[in-house]
Amino acid sequence: MKISVIGCGYLGAVHAACMASLGHEVVGVDVDERKAAALSRGEAPFFEPGLPELLTEAMATGRLSFTTDMSAVEGADVHFVCVGTPQKAGEYAADMTYVDSAFTELRPYLREGNVVAGKSTVPVGTAERLAAELEGSGAVLVWNPEFLREGFAVEDTLHPDRLVYGVAASEAGQRSVEVLDEVYATPISEGTPRLVTDYATAQLVKVAANSFLATKISFINAMAELCEATGADVTQLADAIGHDVRIGRRFLNAGLGFGGGCLPKDIRAFMARAGELGVDQALTFLREVDAINLRRRARMLDLARAELGGSVANRKVAVLGAAFKPNSDDIRDSPALDVAIQLGKESARVTLFDPEAMPNAKAKAPELGYADSIEDAVDGAELVLLLTEWKQFVEMDPKAIGELVDGRRILDGRNVLVPSEWRDAGWTYRALGRQ
Ligand code: UGA
Repeated sequence: MKISVIGCGYLGAVHAACMASLGHEVVGVDVDERKAAALSRGEAPFFEPGLPELLTEAMATGRLSFTTDMSAVEGADVHFVCVGTPQKAGEYAADMTYVDSAFTELRPYLREGNVVAGKSTVPVGTAERLAAELEGSGAVLVWNPEFLREGFAVEDTLHPDRLVYGVAASEAGQRSVEVLDEVYATPISEGTPRLVTDYATAQLVKVAANSFLATKISFINAMAELCEATGADVTQLADAIGHDVRIGRRFLNAGLGFGGGCLPKDIRAFMARAGELGVDQALTFLREVDAINLRRRARMLDLARAELGGSVANRKVAVLGAAFKPNSDDIRDSPALDVAIQLGKESARVTLFDPEAMPNAKAKAPELGYADSIEDAVDGAELVLLLTEWKQFVEMDPKAIGELVDGRRILDGRNVLVPSEWRDAGWTYRALGRQ
């Protein structure tokens, strides 16, 4: 099929490359010239495992191209809208500017029988409004939320755990199901469940899923607070409750909490939308989910101060991790970078190292000190903070690292180290939610 992808960020770039690798002819459009140029050279403009290889392969087939020129979408059968919906400055609500302008710019190029597939995460009700705006264009709107995780984006797009189509209650709506089935013929043939819903349900599925995941993380982090108050161990607690298949162990890792470009802003936009709909009480609990999450960052700072005798001022603190999670260079609402920035504000001498997120971190927090390696970061440090669980941090040798520091104190913000190994090597080991 001929496909256009509008917006080539973390979602769209991956979607475009994956659609080409499924055999479709794809053009990706982005307003950012540097991004479109990098993608045209087969280079990923951000770190995502597997994406550079996929881009190179797809570009070589001649089925994938990128441009800043919207007119290139003309002639495509399906147009995927993948632009961002960030949190509005000073408000909980989502900023719909990019979605609205994508639809406005796309409109002149739509043809009879085209399908416009919305993938951006939007406040429920947006699809209904956009569908009305498309009336008379000959195109039909389908809402097709995306559930990919950064770090696993290629795998999640090629082998999604479900497909959701929110469609219009009309003949054109029925036809849009057939068209998307053709787009996703490969994953569907592999057994991916596919659910057809109305617009409202499809939009809600996305924010409900992210709200559930955020709630699960904050639940275990609330338990971590209880563990801290009672001397219990939150990792053992998570293992034990996780054996109950109704609960499940995934997304029960206590620590510094969630960040990124999705979970935090999605729960806030969901609360804002619920307020507009007059059902704010239904989502009041998400305010608590958000508060628990942010308290973990404050707790980490408390532990850092306590370890250094009450103040971090003028003390050398090594921070390992800036990305909001491993296998990503994304620092949007990153708990790790947030803690590093706060330490800097309290006059700690921070040396930060992250395997992939350094350029983004430096751009956001140029005032911090940066190191080129783990060894460089911990050299002479009086305190080490592990804040993003990159594999190389998890596998650090406490003895070797111990030779470099100026005080064997480590705070494990992700509960990924084996405490006994560090204590046996003479370290003071502390973590969130365990002794
Ligand atoms: C999330 C969802 O998992 C995806 O399904 C969704 O498509 C995506 O948002 C989106 O809306 O686009 P992502 O933001 O890539 O994906 O990251 P997650 O893997 O969900 O992790 C989010 C945060 O939660 C990270 O900061 C991670 O460190 C933290 N986390 C995760 C925990 O603190 N504990 C856990 O047990 C799991």
